[in-house]
Amino acid sequence: MFRRIYLDNSATTPIDERVVEEMLPFLTGKFGNASSIHFFGQEARAAVDKARHQVAELINARPNEIVFTSGGTEANNLAVRGLAEANEKYGKHIITSEIEHSAVKSVCEDLGKRGWEVTYLPVYKNGIVRIEDLRAAIRPDTILISIMTANNEIGTIQPVSEIGKLVRTLRETGEKIWFHTDAVQATGKIPIDVEEIGCDLLSLSGHKINAPKGIGALYVRRGVRLHAQNIGGRQERERRGGTESVHQIVALGKACELAKNNLPENASRLADLRNKFEDEVSERISGVFFNGEREKRVPNISNISFRSVEGEGLLINLDLQGIAVSTGSACSSGSLEPSPVIRALGRDDELARGAIRFSFGKENTLEEIEYLLEVLPKAIESLRKLSPAYSKEQAK
Ligand SMILES: Cc1ncc(COP(=O)(O)O)c(C=O)c1O
Repeated sequence: MFRRIYLDNSATTPIDERVVEEMLPFLTGKFGNASSIHFFGQEARAAVDKARHQVAELINARPNEIVFTSGGTEANNLAVRGLAEANEKYGKHIITSEIEHSAVKSVCEDLGKRGWEVTYLPVYKNGIVRIEDLRAAIRPDTILISIMTANNEIGTIQPVSEIGKLVRTLRETGEKIWFHTDAVQATGKIPIDVEEIGCDLLSLSGHKINAPKGIGALYVRRGVRLHAQNIGGRQERERRGGTESVHQIVALGKACELAKNNLPENASRLADLRNKFEDEVSERISGVFFNGEREKRVPNISNISFRSVEGEGLLINLDLQGIAVSTGSACSSGSLEPSPVIRALGRDDELARGAIRFSFGKENTLEEIEYLLEVLPKAIESLRKLSPAYSKEQAK
């Protein structure tokens, strides 16, 4: 019987049944507008307030520091552009990394065209920024550092607590500088504590943690000024106008509660699956290159380049056998350019084009990994047979 195995959980995750159950009443009987004064409105308001607590608890924030958005992209736009616009009188220099998601990178590029200066920190072979590079890049007019907590293609965890500490020290001496971190791929995978990190802004997204697409949140530390990007009504303390999407917000709240309660168990199960997969891949397949630091990673991502294999070809081959993986990030897949993240590690074009991301989720089983391990070596072998360069190499 044909089966399908979903190993693209960094692109999106299935919605947890408990999340669906929690949100359904807000799609039917409980339809009030959270800004209305009557019973229907108050019912919706109470649900939004509860969800705000649930999100805040996952990251150790205060509920009034949570701004609901339409997802990670909007949270990143509000953080980076919102902070830059509100604080331009203090300086127009931003520091970010070469491996940010396009939702940060594109905003920085856009600001770059509008008079801000942006420094992109390198990441080296391990896919991690160096604190000494950051320290050297900071200038008197630097107002924002935006470095992701975990990368979406290779899963590497950045030294966010060290960055937070540095920013706090600078602020104690009177500098006007703030720290944003895109934690979309880190929430639910590793513990996130905004006090421990010391960040001022942190983005998260529902659909990466078993909530629906189209909902996310930005943590905004008390006192941090932002220019709202969506203006209209006075919702979200005037940081994001628009009638609250109550059912989506309720779903995000529930997903955050589940993520918090199940984090240690999920993380260790995922790490076991991922490690078994990687150990077996090293044993069974030659010409394998693991991309990014292997220790400091979220537990669910494995990014591998296979010598003489085109990533797109392997993706299609696996898809025909029911296995869903990705090349690069979902947002840039379809582009035949080698992944900029893998290039930033210093890999050559061939290995960058050969990179495949396997991203595991809480629904995956050991048996599925075993099936993958049966299919993958054969798929690679058949693709390599088609590669003239590989045949020449073997003939030597
Ligand atoms: C690191 C990172 N940031 C931001 C986003 C964008 O989030 P959303 O899809 O909710 O807009 C993603 C989604 O892939 C991501 O992986």
